[in-house]
Amino acid sequence: MESTVYLETAAALSRQAGEIIRDNFGGNFKKGCKSCPSDLVTEVDRRSEALITKGLLEKFPGHTVIGEETAVAMGAMPDGYTWYVDPLDGTTNFVYGIPFCSVSIGLACKGKMLAGVVYDPFRDECFTAAAGCGTFLNSKPVRIDSSRKTLKEALLVTGYPENKKFNERLCNVNYPKITGSCANLRALGSAALELAYISCGRLTGFWENTLMPWDVAAGSLLVAEAGGKATDISGKKLVLESYLSIAATNGLIHEELLKILL
Ligand code: IPD
Ligand code: CA
Ligand code: CA
Repeated sequence: MESTVYLETAAALSRQAGEIIRDNFGGNFKKGCKSCPSDLVTEVDRRSEALITKGLLEKFPGHTVIGEETAVAMGAMPDGYTWYVDPLDGTTNFVYGIPFCSVSIGLACKGKMLAGVVYDPFRDECFTAAAGCGTFLNSKPVRIDSSRKTLKEALLVTGYPENKKFNERLCNVNYPKITGSCANLRALGSAALELAYISCGRLTGFWENTLMPWDVAAGSLLVAEAGGKATDISGKKLVLESYLSIAATNGLIHEELLKILL
């Protein structure tokens, strides 16, 4: 099947899900927590996921959908067509009233990313990519920032796990060394949107530990198709499995970033 059908379907569903997010922002939505008090979930996450899953399975009945809020334990990547759905990436921002969140939908098959959509409902920005066809923002081609060739010119971004049991991984990172070596460091709170920002040159590099496939499936393709690079934190191929690590950059600072993260 043509990748345009995948992309058009995912983009349309991400916009519908984004409408739910926008409509409920700042409202009285029900909220609770998952693995610990700071691992938040809301009825908006669940409604968004239900809409996307239903839409994908109606259109592609033979495909598998792995959505954050309904996923059971994750094993190896399934071989067939598999959609990775983060129905609301940036739930903490959403709950605290910070309008920086996204909907992320990525399609993989036999370990290869085929299509990815990251939609920012607050800015109406829809980032799309299909394997071999480049990355687009609201249908216009975008590229990584190739003007920043060294770490010292790079605006980096990272994220922190909601579950404090993973905090020890943060201690392995030498923050003073990193902030001393780059232009500056951000943590914006939506991994998928941060990857999208690398793809269009707003950010130069990103890393995070203990993410899940739905956080990075779509965004990693956006980065790669825009001329950048996405690997795990040791520089190996990114595999969509539980608690993955990721380093994604404009490609030019990749080795320097990996080295400083060692
Ligand atoms: C989170 C966001 C955040 C990242 C966390 C993720 P969620 O996803 O992507 O930026 O730092 O590690 O869990 O829970 O808002 O979908
Ligand atoms: Ca997420
Ligand atoms: Ca989420």
